[in-house]
Amino acid sequence: MSGVVNTRSAEESACPEILLAIESSCDETAAAVVDSQGHVLSSVVASQDELHQRFGGVVPEIASRAHLSRVLPVIDEALRKSSHALEDLSAIAVMTEPGLVGSLLVGVTAAKTLAMVLGRPLIAVNHIHAHLYACRMTATRNIFPATGLVVSGGHTNLYDCRSAIDYELVGSTIDDAAGEAFDKAAALLGLPYPGGPWMQKMAVNGNPRAFNFPRSFLKDDRLAFSFSGLKTALRYTALGLPGAEEPAPELTPQRISDLAASFQEAVVDVLIGKCRQALSQFKRRTLCIGGGVAANVRLRERLLELQDESGIDVIIAPMALCTDNAAMGAIAWELLQAGQVAPLDVDVTPGLVRHSR
Ligand code: KG4
Ligand code: ZN
Repeated sequence: MSGVVNTRSAEESACPEILLAIESSCDETAAAVVDSQGHVLSSVVASQDELHQRFGGVVPEIASRAHLSRVLPVIDEALRKSSHALEDLSAIAVMTEPGLVGSLLVGVTAAKTLAMVLGRPLIAVNHIHAHLYACRMTATRNIFPATGLVVSGGHTNLYDCRSAIDYELVGSTIDDAAGEAFDKAAALLGLPYPGGPWMQKMAVNGNPRAFNFPRSFLKDDRLAFSFSGLKTALRYTALGLPGAEEPAPELTPQRISDLAASFQEAVVDVLIGKCRQALSQFKRRTLCIGGGVAANVRLRERLLELQDESGIDVIIAPMALCTDNAAMGAIAWELLQAGQVAPLDVDVTPGLVRHSR
């Protein structure tokens, strides 16, 4: 099967152009039907949050097993909601990188099978690029070139986005991702998983200046992030220094709120600061933000302030396109147009590939 590329007959090409996109890179099983104008005809997301909650994070083996049982019903539902049948599809898109290997394999195997059986082109999508493309979908106009920030549970990456399909990774975290830091901080404060939304909720009643947490690399030109020092600072403030004679003050709801607000403010300060640096270093006037942490209300407020004061065009994907979904697989139309069709033996790439200049 190596190197096989599916093509369509002239007759088939007359069909309405719609594609099915499949996403299973982490803990959401998702499928969407999108037309060639970028209209989302249906988008179905089956979350696994309840399966991973008691472990305080995603358990890869549980995730891939859940994808296995959900992928076909999710595809069926996406097709049904779009009022289309499998035969109507012009192409099959699937996120092949990055992610958990077992999880990725489930979606990719389903996509390959459909592409082969239907005789349609298979398009391999980079999940992170798709998060940024969600901003292009939101704007419904060309937004490139731009600086892009993807902040999720697995990634905190800055990109120089030259076009809809040309993204250069220009900065990333050297340890935890921002969402992961939120999740770990929440677990430490006794809040449920996923922790980001809970930290945000507690922060509403807290003082963001109650604790002066570290903002790593903020005064450094390097486009790098680090959240492990912040996490440790939170631990010592919340639970006390190891071996300390005095116990830490009781974690009352007010103290948890102050800790959450101060933690959130530190993360947001760093994200905004690094976006400013990237915009300036790459001389871009547009900033697009995607990934689950982009749902954070405080981050959104600060991004709008940045827009007002600097005139930078800030495009934030709406909630449904921020967290993991398959609709952002609409980027596949751009890839298809550029002739980037994947062979049916395309492999998954679990790690993040740094494309150097
Ligand atoms: O993009 P996403 O849905 O999945 C990954 O690819 O990781 O992002 C999930 C992450 C989790 O870490 C979650 O805690 C975080 O996004 N998150 C938030 C908020 N909503 C989700 N973090 C901070 N504030 C939020 N409102
Ligand atoms: Zn994601």
